[in-house]
Amino acid sequence: MREVFRLAKSLVVAGLCAGAAFSAHADDKMASLKIVDGGIPASLTGVAGDVDKGRKAVVNRKQGNCLACHAVSSLDNQPFHGEVGPSLDGVSERYSDAQLRLILVDSKKVFEGSIMPSFYRTGGYQRVAKKFDGKTILSAQQVEDVIAFLKAQ
Ligand code: HEC
Repeated sequence: MREVFRLAKSLVVAGLCAGAAFSAHADDKMASLKIVDGGIPASLTGVAGDVDKGRKAVVNRKQGNCLACHAVSSLDNQPFHGEVGPSLDGVSERYSDAQLRLILVDSKKVFEGSIMPSFYRTGGYQRVAKKFDGKTILSAQQVEDVIAFLKAQ
């Protein structure tokens, strides 16, 4: 009985590995982006970010959900502000656009082992539910919109 259990377990592990290999192999949007000096200098879309749309993506719990971990003074009308990460007030004085873009695209490239989600990665670090496989949390334009919003804080 124990043998059967062990066999089942190793099959599960093998399955997980195959799954991980597949998702790492899946077209990771991040892979085509050029990182220069700790940032991504080029806009992901070439279209200027929109502050209002950025605010919506920041607040939306299924998108940025940034307030789960960060406080933002201009969003004081929102009920909950987390303290897991630093306040985002004045963040554009601390980081260039290129750095903000990389933090959003893949925070782990800037803060090793960060719990902040990578908002524009499809493969790599975490196993994701199938319905999210191959999808990024934010679209390329939403990343640009959120940068525009952050610059206004
Ligand atoms: C699950 C928690 C979590 C979420 C959600 C999250 N972050 Fe973060 N973020 C962090 C943590 C923690 C740090 C500090 C760096 C570290 O130690 O990982 C951070 C750092 C940052 C920084 C650098 C701030 C500084 O002053 O150094 C920026 C900018 C940032 N986050 C923006 C965002 C934005 C915008 C969103 C939403 C799109 C977001 N974060 C969502 C946890 C989070």
